[in-house]
Amino acid sequence: ATERTLSIIKPDATKRNLTGKINAKFEDAGLRIIAQKRIQLTKAQAGQFYAVHAERPFYDELCEFMASEPVVVQVLEGEGAILKNREVMGATNPADAAPGTIRAEFAESVGENSVHGSDAPETAKEEIAFFFSGLELVG
Ligand code: CMP
Repeated sequence: ATERTLSIIKPDATKRNLTGKINAKFEDAGLRIIAQKRIQLTKAQAGQFYAVHAERPFYDELCEFMASEPVVVQVLEGEGAILKNREVMGATNPADAAPGTIRAEFAESVGENSVHGSDAPETAKEEIAFFFSGLELVG
């Protein structure tokens, strides 16, 4: 089925001018960018977005990092978009990411791993609503 997923191009990638190269990977995989904006998160906003990880040891570092430079938040649409995006991103830790994936090519570490993608339909819905209104999604 056609799905939508929330993607974030993270500070390590925007800082290195990789937005276009990462978007090319999504588009080459058949994912359509139906909404996109470049924003700078506050640490509190990053904390709210990643609230599910609040008890993890890396939470504070993660929130600092996500607020350190602009991010590009986007909605990707396509057949099986949630899983497809996760395939294009590669494993969370770039050391484990398959060749050709975004994280294998661009990520610097498990924390500074260039992209985020929703992990399931329910989280995709919540994460899209966190950043976008319905009017901003132009499929
Ligand atoms: P993401 O898919 O955005 O979801 C949660 C993020 O936490 C994850 O990508 C990583 O960037 C980050 N993360 C996961 N594990 C670690 C870790 N061990 N140390 C630092 N950051 C981590």
